[in-house]
Amino acid sequence: MTHTVSVTGLRKRFGATVALDGVDATFTPGVNGLLGPNGAGKTTMLRILATVLPADDGHLEALGVDPATAEGRLSVRRRLGYLPQEPGFHQHFSAFDFVDYVAILKEWVDRKARHDEVRRVLGLVGLEAVMHKRIRQLSGGMRRRVGIAQALLGSPDLLVLDEPTAGLDPEQRLRFRELLGTDAAGSTVLLSTHQTDDVAALCGHVIVLLHGQIRFTGTPVGLAALATDRVWLATDRDPRAELAWVTGEGRIRHIGEPPAGAHLVEPTVEDGYLVLAGRDAHAGEEAVAS
Ligand SMILES: Nc1ncnc2c1ncn2[C@@H]1O[C@H](COP(=O)(O)OP(=O)(O)OP(=O)(O)O)[C@@H](O)[C@H]1O
Ligand SMILES: [Mg+2]
Repeated sequence: MTHTVSVTGLRKRFGATVALDGVDATFTPGVNGLLGPNGAGKTTMLRILATVLPADDGHLEALGVDPATAEGRLSVRRRLGYLPQEPGFHQHFSAFDFVDYVAILKEWVDRKARHDEVRRVLGLVGLEAVMHKRIRQLSGGMRRRVGIAQALLGSPDLLVLDEPTAGLDPEQRLRFRELLGTDAAGSTVLLSTHQTDDVAALCGHVIVLLHGQIRFTGTPVGLAALATDRVWLATDRDPRAELAWVTGEGRIRHIGEPPAGAHLVEPTVEDGYLVLAGRDAHAGEEAVAS
């Protein structure tokens, strides 16, 4: 499959902070997930891909054009839907008026067609009943869904969604997964999340960013496989494990080098991610120790 987005040698710093430290990645149509701890550089990368923020260095190609040029930027923006991590809503607008306003900015000039589209995207996120309420009267999860709705206007070829499922209830998360599979089918979706079960359920391709660098790129199954033979359950906490936590069933789930005879379990995407992040944390400790 041809790449719709590719970045090479992407770098970005904010003063002394290196947010992106030479990122190379390619994305194809389908859902691409971005995982990483707080401050890893996910938002910075998505803002660059959404043409909101220029990179300091490196090359970006999106939908066949170079957004470093004014023409390229315009052409990408016309085919882009973007949900920022913290959208600045006009709180006194109703959900309908806000999405309608974004649609006007997106050059939907015909009023009737535009209003139909605004109702369609608000329907996709289940906000029909409250679309005429002011945004400030909506719950946090509903506001998130207004943000998702505006990104879906016109079924864009490129959808950049920064933590779209943060704050959504379980039913709305399922609905979101389904709409990506139907309404966004054929587009290239780049989303960041802290929810590894979203990655397992949604993403064909996942990348893990740690300290502004890519540490994993592959499938969710491949990420989970990093923890193969390294996850076990026991009744008591094993102090030799790298990580251990109590499960809902009251047993202790461990990650690390299992002791002989340990009750090994099938790893999840979260386990794979934790193995990677743990390795990174240990590398940091060694660096401090030496
Ligand atoms: N506008 C800014 N000015 C200064 N520093 C910034 C700015 N934006 C990001 N940073 C820094 O860049 C680094 C990466 O931030 P970024 O927001 O990309 O992380 P993230 O992976 O999205 O984290 P989170 O999971 O918390 O959303 C952090 O150290 C952050 O403090
Ligand atoms: Mg972020």
